[in-house]
Amino acid sequence: MHSIDPGNSFATWREAARRMLAAGVPPQEILWEKADGLLAGIAEEPAIYHVSSSKAPAVPKAFLDLAVNAACHADPGRWALLYRILWRITHGGEKRLAEISTDPDIARARLMEKNVRREIHKMHAFVRFRKTGEREDGREIFVAWFEPEHHIVEAATPFFRKRFANMDWSIFTPKGCAHWDGETLAYTPGVERDPCDDPDALEAAWRTYYRSIFNPARLKTKAMQTEMPRRYWKNLPEAEIIEELIRDSRPRTGDMIATTPRPLRPEPRNDYLAHLRQLSEIPACSLPPPGTPPEEIARLLKSCRLCPLWQRATQAVPGRGPADARIMIVGEQPGDREDLEGTPFVGPAGQLLDQALAAAGIERDQAYLTNAVKHFKWTARGKVRLHAKPDAAEIDACKPWLLAELSSVAPEVLILLGNSAGRSLLGEGYPVTRHRGIIDAPHLAPRVILSYHPSYLLRLREPADRESTFEQFVHDLRLAVVHGD
Ligand code: URA
Repeated sequence: MHSIDPGNSFATWREAARRMLAAGVPPQEILWEKADGLLAGIAEEPAIYHVSSSKAPAVPKAFLDLAVNAACHADPGRWALLYRILWRITHGGEKRLAEISTDPDIARARLMEKNVRREIHKMHAFVRFRKTGEREDGREIFVAWFEPEHHIVEAATPFFRKRFANMDWSIFTPKGCAHWDGETLAYTPGVERDPCDDPDALEAAWRTYYRSIFNPARLKTKAMQTEMPRRYWKNLPEAEIIEELIRDSRPRTGDMIATTPRPLRPEPRNDYLAHLRQLSEIPACSLPPPGTPPEEIARLLKSCRLCPLWQRATQAVPGRGPADARIMIVGEQPGDREDLEGTPFVGPAGQLLDQALAAAGIERDQAYLTNAVKHFKWTARGKVRLHAKPDAAEIDACKPWLLAELSSVAPEVLILLGNSAGRSLLGEGYPVTRHRGIIDAPHLAPRVILSYHPSYLLRLREPADRESTFEQFVHDLRLAVVHGD
């Protein structure tokens, strides 16, 4: 029996697993944790297994994709599970095992993967930065606190580097902290409590960070003092340790190679951050806190007064579908039937959507259906209530609800139907006629598809137009089920 403790590092586990596989060590002979207590006699991984990893068998990409995410799960049994799957693939003749979702090992790993992905999305949606100051060069400094259940900090934070490239930020969590200074994304160990409101704790956390990024090979004390005169050092949390780091750096400098930061891609701007702030700042409105399940969102939505549309609607219409749906579909707003029944997409547009989903091979019951605006907006013609298009202010006012649903369901595929849904989540500048198909918006979901709204098809007069547009619509929906990028 051998004991290997990869901690929470996928890279460490992978290296060890490759060595174990190459040496033919079966799963039942490895304890993937530090052996202590009664198990303390178990051997550490013996040196004989440190064979060249080039002898390790090739591993299918489907397994690696699954393993990278499942490895972030907090379940301590994940390493043993992943090794058992790997063993069955490489030594048990089950080469395509990773694709068999009914296998109990794969089902468990997929569930872990799903939980991890969901939490990454939650982190993207619910991290709130608070400004704490400015650097000498005018760059703003922000901090945030987040409490993930899984080890997602390294997987989730490159998103923030892209999105908030122009500010310095730190995200503190008990499972690890991430820090961005415009050049480097650095990680430090987790902290027990939120340091953001406690100046001492914040300074201590920053000092840890500063130590971790301090690069003696770049040390030019003169230049440092010119750019950041010594009199300012007292205001910096890291100031106390600058002298100490300079002193300690001398012997180490020769070992280090300074890295050149890669240039950043320019940031596409939209109002996402502003809306996330809005989510937490609107007073006297019971907006759902992070992690709220859809039924609770639906309950809170009933008392929404964020815009005047509630006054003339029968009720707010929340989303409907499994809370862990793989696909989420967003329409514009409830129609007359939806307003009366309280369920999205049950009127004529819904029927057309059903036909298109069936043609695309998507089961409606498996998808989460909702709208950008939750109350029916209408004008009267005689006794008939006619649909009226929601304006930008109404769409924006309703956006927190949609974001809450999106973050709770955390779908793999998000389908936006029509310009209102596109306006809500993508911002201006995404008319369906110009941007149909897959949209690059990883902050929303791994795959985002923009297509026609079914009501648009219903309004087309010419049967030939309607038919060809329906085909395009089905083609777009199929992008939710086909694989590849
Ligand atoms: N149109 C929509 O956008 N949503 C519905 O729920 C019904 C019609």
